[in-house]
Amino acid sequence: MNICVIGAGYVGLTTAAVLSDCGHYVDCVDIDSKRIAVLKKGIVPIFEPGLKEIIDKSIQNNFLTFSTKVKEKIAENPIIFITVGTPSLEDGSPNLSYVKSVVDDIAASITSHKTIIVKSTVPPGTNEEIHNMLLEKNVDPSLFDIVSNPEFLREGTAVKDMLEPDKIVIGIKRPEPLQVMQKIYKQVHAPYIVTSLTGAEMIKYASNAFLATKISFINEIARICDAYGVNVSDVSLGLGTDPRIGPLFLRAGLGYGGSCFPKDLQGLTYSAKKKNIHPELITSVQNVNDTQIDVYFKKLKSAIPDLNGKQITVWGLSFKPDTDDIRYSASIRLIDKLLEEGANIHAYDPIVKLDKPNIICHSNVYESVKQSDVLIIATEWKEFKGIDWLKVKEEMNGNIVLDGRNIIDPRTVKYVGFHYLGVGQL
Ligand code: UDX
Ligand code: UDX
Repeated sequence: MNICVIGAGYVGLTTAAVLSDCGHYVDCVDIDSKRIAVLKKGIVPIFEPGLKEIIDKSIQNNFLTFSTKVKEKIAENPIIFITVGTPSLEDGSPNLSYVKSVVDDIAASITSHKTIIVKSTVPPGTNEEIHNMLLEKNVDPSLFDIVSNPEFLREGTAVKDMLEPDKIVIGIKRPEPLQVMQKIYKQVHAPYIVTSLTGAEMIKYASNAFLATKISFINEIARICDAYGVNVSDVSLGLGTDPRIGPLFLRAGLGYGGSCFPKDLQGLTYSAKKKNIHPELITSVQNVNDTQIDVYFKKLKSAIPDLNGKQITVWGLSFKPDTDDIRYSASIRLIDKLLEEGANIHAYDPIVKLDKPNIICHSNVYESVKQSDVLIIATEWKEFKGIDWLKVKEEMNGNIVLDGRNIIDPRTVKYVGFHYLGVGQL
């Protein structure tokens, strides 16, 4: 099939790569000419395991092209995926201007039938609005079908998630485009959930809200565990064995970040309020997440009341491991707080190198702790699990280690002389 993917970001690149790997001819377009120039040279501008390999293969086999010619590629391809970003605006609502400008481009270039598949996460009602926008722009209704096909990709495992999803959610207005979707995803084996356009949008928002709820729930439990001297990891284990609960998304720590959960919970809250519904639970989930850093910060301050001039090393900058994405990263938010207190920051991340004033980024994990007073683990990269703690202790000036992700064994670090700080971790 001939497909155009609009927006070469995390989701768009993964979508374009996997669909071309499945044997479709994919034109991936983006308005960012620098990004496209880089991609044309075979450089993948994001770190996502396995992505470069399939992009290289697909380019070589002529199944994948990159270009900035959005309108031209829309005109050439019968299937259009919209994967542009929908970042939050000041009031919490998602910025739909990028999606809408793509719709304008489609209206301006449409001469034959298009199946327009919206993968970008949008609030309930947006796909219907897109449909109406096209009609208002005098596009003949027989020339297009809108399909809402939300993505459930996790950064770090996006390729695998796209190839082996739990489900394929399809929102449609009439049955015909379902067959098109089944053809596109012929090689992807997963149950189909078919619903209305708005139903599909709600599935996406509700999924992210539920996952975020699990995280805030365990973080609140961790605070209580802390007060009672209980290991929250034991509680997660005990909870997770109940099949009604499940073991995933019960890792306590500094809270969730990234480009999706914070934005989508804000977006859902905004959509609810628009209809005069005050979402109590979802509001609390966000409050717990927003204050989780403060809980750790308070612990740190109780160990070192004056952070001014202290050397603090932070391990992990990305919002989660196996990605270079720092959007709404708990680590960055924590660093900003430490800087406000006058601390000097040394950072180490296996992939991310920050260009930020007052932060020294190191390329070696042990070098990053030299002469440090405090070490903070902010992202659970695998590398931090195999650390030689004796060596770290020798390099450091102080003896405080704050584990923001519950990934180190407190007994090991205590044994080599560290003062261990965690929440819900003894
Ligand atoms: C996607 C979106 O689908 C979002 O709604 C979802 O919640 C998360 O995943 P993501 O892939 O993370 O967003 O976005 P990003 O990495 O910011 O990439 C968006 C791309 O679209 C950028 O490369 C940008 O240049 C491009 N773009 C934006 C266009 O090509 N056209 C536009 O009009 C605007
Ligand atoms: C999420 C959804 O999982 C995915 O389905 C959706 O399409 C996009 O948003 P992503 O943001 O890439 O994916 O990562 P995810 O693995 O969900 O982690 C989000 C955040 O939650 C990270 O900051 C992670 O550290 C945190 N997290 C996750 C926890 O704090 N505890 C957990 O137990 C799990």
